[in-house]
Amino acid sequence: MKVAIMGYGTIGSGVAEVLRVNQEILKKKIGEPVELKYVLDIRESIPEDNDKLINDFSIIENDDEVGLVVETMGGIHPAYEFVKACLEKGKHCVTSNKALVDACGSKLISIAKAHNCNFYFEASVGGGIPVIRTIHHNYAGENLIEITGIMNGTTNFILTNMREKGADFGETLEEAQRLGYAERDPSSDIDGFDTSRKTAILLSMASGNRCRHEDIYTEGIRDISKLDFSYAHELGMSIKLLGSVQQVEDKYFAYVVPMMIPKSDPLFSVDGVFNGIRIVGNCLGTTMLYGMGAGKLPTASAVVSDIIAAVRHKNEFQGIGWSENMLEIEPMGSNAFSYFIRVEGTSSDIEADLREYFLNEDSELKPIVLDNRTDEFALLTDVMFEDDFLDNVKAFEAKTGRRIFHFIRTEKET
Ligand code: HSE
Repeated sequence: MKVAIMGYGTIGSGVAEVLRVNQEILKKKIGEPVELKYVLDIRESIPEDNDKLINDFSIIENDDEVGLVVETMGGIHPAYEFVKACLEKGKHCVTSNKALVDACGSKLISIAKAHNCNFYFEASVGGGIPVIRTIHHNYAGENLIEITGIMNGTTNFILTNMREKGADFGETLEEAQRLGYAERDPSSDIDGFDTSRKTAILLSMASGNRCRHEDIYTEGIRDISKLDFSYAHELGMSIKLLGSVQQVEDKYFAYVVPMMIPKSDPLFSVDGVFNGIRIVGNCLGTTMLYGMGAGKLPTASAVVSDIIAAVRHKNEFQGIGWSENMLEIEPMGSNAFSYFIRVEGTSSDIEADLREYFLNEDSELKPIVLDNRTDEFALLTDVMFEDDFLDNVKAFEAKTGRRIFHFIRTEKET
């Protein structure tokens, strides 16, 4: 199989490296060599130290020897036009580009089907963690009830450091930027958009239908403070940015939010730049995939696994993906959570109001007070629908004149 790589940044050069380092292993496993023929770099001047480098896409498009194209350019244009043109020529395409898969995946899957080739995107979610093919093959016989994951290494590094060092968000972000874990413009990671694109791809895999990450309710981690972590510590919990997809009968729920999670959750111990994806099937129960969700070689390894799959299925469309039908996601307000709330003042004279708005009749009121503070305390509410919770916060504030300073959705210890 002769291969072209489009985009010679971190991931593209990683793919070239894995193909070179593992060339004998690959040949043995798939029965034929995988030979890198071109590397496309569309910058005007390209380094001259690599005889495979070209800057004209039409060379790849028109070379019938090239049976597979790897897209690691990032962004949607011209990645979409290039991948589309290759699929229309019957060339298999493999990408690590979650923006492309989120925005154009269903279209590219349909084009691949029409031309009896494959569009693979294992590396677009969870970097080196094999989650896409695992859902397609290994959960094929399951009704997938839930997929919830820590899918962004940058935010997980920041939250882990805040917990371990008692540091605040701003200083931890600066440290992450100094160490190269966060971009100079960190918005895509810390505001949750990277996770919401990955969540949209998992939702499409789980439902078999198209969705848009813009339709997934998304919050980032800018408002998480060291005080929140002090309370989490008292509760034996941690705070993680989670992307979650849930199915209840024929309805689909999805969101990206920071959540307080208990020690019993397998995601509790996914720390630093690592990712973890918890998958719940109706018969299998809970499983978790864990590993490096980003980085040159882990991501390249996932791309190479797609190359192998393409060689193994070179004469057939394999059907990994989803239809072009649009999925309706249930509104955020219809999700139910328990909430961690930080309330102004002390609880002594407002116990009845706290009970009225946030607890069931038979629940015990357990205020958490840090260091004898009198300016605020915290509480875990009973489980309620988000719409009801938000209404209750307003009604509580209006009635008592006390503010709810901050809330974080939680999973209670099970
Ligand atoms: N910035 C992303 C992360 C890279 O931190 O996980 C992989 O999408």
